[in-house]
Amino acid sequence: MDKKIVIAIDGYSSTGKSTFAKLIAARLGYIYIDTGAMYRAVTLLAQRKGLIDSSNNIDVPALRSELFDGPGHDVNFRVREDNGSSETYLDGENVENQIRSMGVSSQVSPIAAVPCVREFVNIRLRRIGAGKGVVMDGRDIGTAVFPNAELKIFMTASPDVRARRRLMEMQAKGQEGTFEQVLANLRERDYVDSHRETDPLTKAEDAVVLDNSDLSLEQQLEWIDKILEKF
Ligand code: DC
Repeated sequence: MDKKIVIAIDGYSSTGKSTFAKLIAARLGYIYIDTGAMYRAVTLLAQRKGLIDSSNNIDVPALRSELFDGPGHDVNFRVREDNGSSETYLDGENVENQIRSMGVSSQVSPIAAVPCVREFVNIRLRRIGAGKGVVMDGRDIGTAVFPNAELKIFMTASPDVRARRRLMEMQAKGQEGTFEQVLANLRERDYVDSHRETDPLTKAEDAVVLDNSDLSLEQQLEWIDKILEKF
């Protein structure tokens, strides 16, 4: 593939978007951007500053001021030298593990529904994507962030399969949580993500759908290789 393109991968939580996106990026020598990590980092920031309570009431004016006034905040990614994986940093602190906790997962959807939070993240994503040669995964990449992306993929899988995958990931990191809790969190997030007013999760008209409920990673790569041949 000679020309560099933007590949937008959207879909429900825990459909394996990031694993798939990382593999595509590695195959093409592209950068991979986990856009959900940015929303998670903003959620952690809001929690630390006491701008969201346990009932998900958000102090939006204070959050907007935190993000846009004064020195603002720095959310970015750094690649680890030992294993090449990308980790999320908030104001210079590695927050990769904290942003994957149930505490952050349970409040990230309401935070991501706040328009000024989306604006804060989108400014950064468009800056990164301007150079092309990127694979981004998220909820609104093909619809709102890069509506002109050359390749758009919409990923989906059954809720049970997704909850099982997510639980295994959490257990591997020694994090707490039961199958029922994880499933309930996924369903809740699906609902909030697809029903929010600003840039809800929805399939772009020109996106190709990948339902990987019963597909191995190898089968998914065969699928994408056929698509990439056309570019
Ligand atoms: O992909 P993830 O589970 O890490 O995403 C966390 C949350 O961030 C998800 O519930 C919705 C939100 N999100 C979003 O609204 N738009 C994106 N482009 C990416 C994530």
